[in-house]
Amino acid sequence: MRRVALLLSALAFIGSGALVNAKDGPPAALPDLGAVHATRAELAAAQPVTAKHAMVVTAQHLATEIGVDILKKGGNAVDAAVAVGYALAVVHPCCGNIGGGGFMTLHLADGRNLFLDFREKAPLAATTTMFQDANGNVVPERSRSSWLAIGVPGTVMGLDEALTTYGTMSRAEVMAPAIALARKGFVLNASDAHILALRAKVFASQPNVAAIFLHPDGKPYSAGERLVQPALAKTLDLIARKGPDAFYKGPIARAIVAASQQGGGLFTMKDFADYSAPWSAPVTCRYHGYQVVSTPPPSSGGTTVCEILQIVAPYPFAKWGFGSTQVTHYLVEAERCAFADRNTYLGDPAFVTNPIAKLLSADHAAKIRSEIAPDRATPSSEVKGSLGADEGQHTTQYSIVDAQGNAVSVTYTINFFFGTGKIAGDTGFFLNNEMDDFTSKPGVANAFGLVQGKTNEIQPGKRPLSSMTPTIVLKSGKLFMVTGSPGGSTIISTTLESILNVVDFGMNMQQAVDAPRLHHQWLPDIVTVEPGYLSPKVKVALEGMGYTFRVHSPWGADEAILRNPATSLLEGANDNRRPSGLAAGY
Ligand code: DON
Repeated sequence: MRRVALLLSALAFIGSGALVNAKDGPPAALPDLGAVHATRAELAAAQPVTAKHAMVVTAQHLATEIGVDILKKGGNAVDAAVAVGYALAVVHPCCGNIGGGGFMTLHLADGRNLFLDFREKAPLAATTTMFQDANGNVVPERSRSSWLAIGVPGTVMGLDEALTTYGTMSRAEVMAPAIALARKGFVLNASDAHILALRAKVFASQPNVAAIFLHPDGKPYSAGERLVQPALAKTLDLIARKGPDAFYKGPIARAIVAASQQGGGLFTMKDFADYSAPWSAPVTCRYHGYQVVSTPPPSSGGTTVCEILQIVAPYPFAKWGFGSTQVTHYLVEAERCAFADRNTYLGDPAFVTNPIAKLLSADHAAKIRSEIAPDRATPSSEVKGSLGADEGQHTTQYSIVDAQGNAVSVTYTINFFFGTGKIAGDTGFFLNNEMDDFTSKPGVANAFGLVQGKTNEIQPGKRPLSSMTPTIVLKSGKLFMVTGSPGGSTIISTTLESILNVVDFGMNMQQAVDAPRLHHQWLPDIVTVEPGYLSPKVKVALEGMGYTFRVHSPWGADEAILRNPATSLLEGANDNRRPSGLAAGY
């Protein structure tokens, strides 16, 4: 009953969406996918897919089906996660990858919570000012589309580390479906074809890329056509037979190093031979009786989500309601402060000390709350990292729960759609442009508009600070929710809002994922909203308090799972912003 009442109050605040003008275009890193936001009626009716035993949700339906097959064959959630990771590299090549990196957050049936870091690393020859010209000006092209933009990929090491430590199946078994899809091809649907067309010009400029992703006449593939990737099949087959050594010490590393050196990049074989994917403890925090298990640095996600939750916890969000003036105000103020802290204090833990305990302490949250005026937006120019000076596109999310109660949340990325757009020789896979996530110069925004500081400056062998936030929420030690998203800096608010939508606003998993989103990241001092978030009344009230809004086309793709405590059923929700995705279970 309470959930229904909360939901009705939530829906009452969701406006028509035709209220605000977008003055600024979308940042290059968050292209308009043509996704349509859910109307009020659609949102009210949205229902998740339910299953009794196990659930897989990914941004591409074929990858979801592979995950479910692995689970039905007796594999556990880790086996399925590795199979899905390789499958997405084939059927979702914008984002799924072996040329990038990511994070895996796990909750095992025995109660253990784990985190695996397979983030890319800067090459050993990288320098702090490598993306600046002789006058100290940042040259964005260098960190986004040149061979210097590429970090040492971590995905193959990460997936193998997960499989050999917690999986039950062989590498060959979990990789076979991806290899078959690459070899025999798969039929593109409209959404797959739309994404491929986004960077057709970049593909056309490189013969080895055009040969795979464009027709001989230079036209992009259309819906209904079959995309076959024999070069990728060969690379995957090599990894299946020889393991990560093929990628980090063998012919694949050699091909990337050769192409990098030819193109003016810095890679050597040592960069690849030195790569490792370490395990560490997740960041955890409590919110309204739930335990949030999320990502530690080099992800900023878990720390920032938890800092925001600690700040907003005492406010009566459930009473105020989704999209209300008060919720929007306090959420934006909390995001503003937490992002200022993120951008000032966090970085690769192998290089800097991250003051996580302080950022997540009750005192810190109370201090920030005491500085928020109830009736006024705080200009971001008045907000600095709150501990004092000396402290310290593209991506995809998937979520899996197996019948034993193991849960896996993965976000991995090559940064922009198709990363740099470069493929080394005949390896068949796109290389990331993750070096743009570093601070090219303190105070200068990156592609996601993040204005970051020295803790995230470039150093040899360092991992760039990430916003990826694969997260698991527990209730009384038992699985409650698996969530996360792509979307650069907006990943953090998307993940946070999916939790608030369920915990505070009583939405089911599908509604929580589809509901319009809100984002503020300290700088620029603008509240970005999806169409439909702001009602006319709320907009007027908040503008009167000093807020500036920008409406952006829908962003993110939260592929999420909830274990509904009332029914014990798993609720799977594919984000309606990625129509190619699928939630399926048994
Ligand atoms: O790690 C990060 O924070 C970014 N490289 C993620 C990029 C991303 O989500 C692009 N997708 N929209």
